[in-house]
Amino acid sequence: MRTPTPLNEATSFSTFNYLKNNVHLKSRYFFAPINAGLATKDGNPTDELISFHEKRSGKGIGINYVGNVSITKDYVTNDSTLFVSNNMYNWEKLTSCIDASGSLAGVQVACYKSAYSLIRKWKNKNNEAYIKFTQEEISSFTNKEIDTLVKQFIDASVQLIKIGFKVIQIHAGHGYFLSTFISKTFNKRTDEYGKDPLLILKRIFEGIRAKVGYSDYWLDLRISVFERSLEENLEQKLIALDDLTKHNSLDMISQVNGLYNLSKKLMYPNRSLGHCFMKDEIAKLAEKYPEILWNLCGNIWDLEAVESERLPANLSFSVGRALLADEYFVEKSLTQRKEEINRCTFCNKCHYYSMGLPHIDCGVNANLF
Ligand SMILES: Cc1cc2nc3c(=O)[nH]c(=O)nc-3n(C[C@H](O)[C@H](O)[C@H](O)COP(=O)(O)O)c2cc1C
Ligand code: SF4
Repeated sequence: MRTPTPLNEATSFSTFNYLKNNVHLKSRYFFAPINAGLATKDGNPTDELISFHEKRSGKGIGINYVGNVSITKDYVTNDSTLFVSNNMYNWEKLTSCIDASGSLAGVQVACYKSAYSLIRKWKNKNNEAYIKFTQEEISSFTNKEIDTLVKQFIDASVQLIKIGFKVIQIHAGHGYFLSTFISKTFNKRTDEYGKDPLLILKRIFEGIRAKVGYSDYWLDLRISVFERSLEENLEQKLIALDDLTKHNSLDMISQVNGLYNLSKKLMYPNRSLGHCFMKDEIAKLAEKYPEILWNLCGNIWDLEAVESERLPANLSFSVGRALLADEYFVEKSLTQRKEEINRCTFCNKCHYYSMGLPHIDCGVNANLF
């Protein structure tokens, strides 16, 4: 792979500028949260992980997200997952290398609290059993357990802000704890946390804002818009998004699709779904709620096509696999060098957990980190 010259004002045709709460975003293209499986046993970033993120910072990338950081050791998804603890090292090195390269350091705050083991297979053979199991599990949590989780989300987020992260993304997508808890399919509780399934999120946001205010960082929510199929009725989801925007605590909302334990097809969309297939849906929301920065994700591989259309000023894009395959994907795309892009072939080798591999790998990029 030839190393392109660095992106600068003269070579870039993208003129994006977004300033809010003292945080200045210079590109609408982000590196999506990716759990690379490159954490130490005590939940800290390895040098390989730092290099993985450094490679995908600057280069026309607005936010570089560190994916799947568990609120505590108890809720990790596997034993090479990052987690927040009172023994955090190497994190400032990670945030400062992202910052020095010219991107905002983002972090995804996650929690997988379930006795249901994450499936390795692409599809669950018994969706109904999974749904029933999760409904019963969510109903079984005591109020005290939920209040403790809320506190752990708040404390972890505050700790990550202090370490230097500028964008705190609460992970309520993909079937993680918050994702199922806020979904009417799974949350059948009859108490206050069931009557308003979004209450848990509101308490987390309010708690973070009460401790660190509104300045110098953004609060972002990643949420699965479609859960099971792209054909499903979005009415409930749109009501929930409306409620969340009116709560006035979010700076950003980031779309994903799919639930890990139902089907990974929507989480890692097939090429056949087409380029940027969520654009119309999310652009509509961006027009309707201009005070929020909206982010869409999935199959973004042609930035010339994206830029050729009129885009709401508050619409942004997260790129996963295209940036795994080529860390210069955004830069090459924005400087008319798309023929030089090392393309993702949709070979699925990066899904290390499903493939039984210890950490991330890529079928077309031998220098992933
Ligand atoms: C190897 C791999 C790991 C991922 N890890 C996470 C993660 O930790 N958190 C998350 O929200 N999404 C994760 N994703 C999903 C991506 O953020 C993104 O939503 C998805 O890959 C679709 O975007 P793409 O078509 O540009 O790849 C992961 C994707 C891949 C390929
Ligand atoms: S491993 Fe395959 S699917 Fe994943 S980013 Fe690399 S080329 Fe794409």
